[in-house]
Order: sequence, then structure tokens, then C-alpha cells
Amino acid sequence: MFEKLTLPIRPRRNRKSPAIRGLVSETVLTPADFIYPLFIHEDETNDPIESMPGCHRWSLAGLVGEVGRAYEVGVRAVVFFPKIEEDLKTPKGEECYNDDGLVPRAIKAVKEAYPDVVVITDVALDPYNSDGHDGIVEKTKDGDLKIVNDETVKVLCKQALCHAKAGADIVSPSDMMDGRIGAIRATLDRYHFEEVSILSYTAKYASAYYGPFRGALDSAPKAGDKKTYQMDPANSREALREAELDIAEGADMVMVKPAGPYLDIIRIIRDSVDVPIAAYQVSGEYLMIKSAAKDGWVDEEKVAMESLLGIKRAGADMILTYFAKDVAARLQAG
Ligand code: PBG
Repeated sequence: MFEKLTLPIRPRRNRKSPAIRGLVSETVLTPADFIYPLFIHEDETNDPIESMPGCHRWSLAGLVGEVGRAYEVGVRAVVFFPKIEEDLKTPKGEECYNDDGLVPRAIKAVKEAYPDVVVITDVALDPYNSDGHDGIVEKTKDGDLKIVNDETVKVLCKQALCHAKAGADIVSPSDMMDGRIGAIRATLDRYHFEEVSILSYTAKYASAYYGPFRGALDSAPKAGDKKTYQMDPANSREALREAELDIAEGADMVMVKPAGPYLDIIRIIRDSVDVPIAAYQVSGEYLMIKSAAKDGWVDEEKVAMESLLGIKRAGADMILTYFAKDVAARLQAG
């Protein structure tokens, strides 16, 4: 027979009932944590996106309807991504600051229907740029592509101002050009938009997980890759450097993207700065869960919830996720 164990310390005591587990639980997800990314287009139809099951390219009316459904389950923040018609795309992406463009009209429509929803806009050229890059592309003498920083920043300032004029609460530069946070802050302030916040995509990695998103918007680079502006997945120290710069330039919040494969980066930034941190669970992370669930290998609801809990536990205050509406509904149901 076995001897009776002498074990004064038994961690399992803190897990012995749902009520005790509730008391000792450290991380709680709520619908108020989520930012819901929504795709929009010029058409009147709401088209399912093949590369992102469960997501649609919404008409403006469809967008307002979907924001309303998310609102009902407690989601109070949205971010828009436009699919721009091919004939409006140009090398310098001028359409991005057209006051009558798709994004300004979407901002107005949503703010009119739901004034208390936080409307966030993406600031970058890729949906508007005929080269499919986040910045303006120049060809060098040897035929290589160069993404020109300072000229791009000027256009991004115009884009951010256009979104602010239309009523955006937060502008969110996702382009990774140097110096764009300071330049956008100065532009917004000069035009009396001191109250418009900046959520900076601070540590945005050159990730293969963006594939389904680029399929949704037809926004993949026509040539080259994004490695001269997005960060190397091998690196963590430069994430901190980017965060310190963005905060010094006036960012109100910083973002890590993607989220799941970069939890250590969320934690490193959380431990070093005191501004709120957003994390973006990107299209590839979403699709992997959706696909595995579709084949019956994992429980979608539980895996989605666990993936988001992990991101929050790592130190994110808010999470951009295509699961926002579904998970919020689940959380509300208890
Ligand atoms: C582009 C942008 C991208 C995403 C958000 N903004 C793609 C990219 O950088 O190529 C990706 C989001 C996702 O994959 O869900 N400025």
C-alpha cells in the first residue's frame, strides 16, 4: 500500500469549485474590450468574403446594420477597411483623402446612427495605392522598389485629417512609416482636432498571417513585400523602440499586430510603457480557428474565447478581432 502523502501545499484547492475558480480568476474578457473590424465597399450588396468565413464586405446600409447587431451585444468600437474600386487607385493614393470617399461616408453613417460608438479608421495607403503598398512606391535605377517615407507621411496626414473632419474618434496609422505619429498629431492639432485620438500600429510585423485580409480587399502588394517598413518577426527590442518613439510623438494608444504569435511583444511593451495597448488578432489567426472548427477538430467558440483570453492575459487592454460580435454575444449570454 502507498503511504499517505504529506502535502501541505496543494494548488488544486484553489480550483475545487466554479465559485472558487471565479474568485481567483485573474483575467476577465468583456464586450467592452473589443474593437470590431468591418470591411466596406461601394456596392449595395453585402458580400460574404471567401477568405474570411463569417465576414462580409458591407454596403453602407449593411455596415450600419452590422454595427447595430454588435452594439446590441455590447461592442462599442469599430474600425473600417475599405475595398476601393480599381479605377480609383493611383500611385499616390489621392482617393484616401477624398472628403466624399467611402470611408468618410461610412464614418458619418455610423456616427449618425450610433453616436456613442467609437469609430476608428485605418490610416495607410494600401487600399488606395495602385502598387498595393502602404506608402508611395518609387523605382530605383536598378529597378528595385523603394517606399518613400516622408512623402508618404504628408499623404497620411491628409488622410487622417479627412477622417477627423468626417467625425472619426480615433485615427489609426497602420503604415509603419517613420515619424507619422508626430506629423499626424501636429496636423490634427493645427486644424483644431485636438480631441481626435491616435492609436498607432506600433509593432506591426511583416507577417504571413495577413493573407486572408489582403484577399478580402484585393490589396496585396503588386510587387515586392513589406519588409522595409513592417517589422522582422525575429525581433523584439525594436518593438520597444517603436513604442517609445510613438508615445513621444503623441500616440494615445499603441498596438501589437498580429496578436497570438506575438504575446511576448505585448508583455514586453506592457511592462515598459503606461499607455493602453491594443492587440490585433488578424485575419490569418481568425481563419485558422474557423477552418479547424469547420473540419470539426476544435470547438470554435471555446478556442476563440481562449485565444482572446490569452491576448488579454499577455497585457492587451483592447483587442481587434473578427470574433468581436460572436464572442461578445457569448459573454453576454453568460
Ligand atoms: C494595411 C493593413 C493590413 C491589415 C490591417 N491593415 C494588411 C497589411 O499590412 O498588409 C491586416 C489585418 C488582418 O490581416 O486582419 N495597412
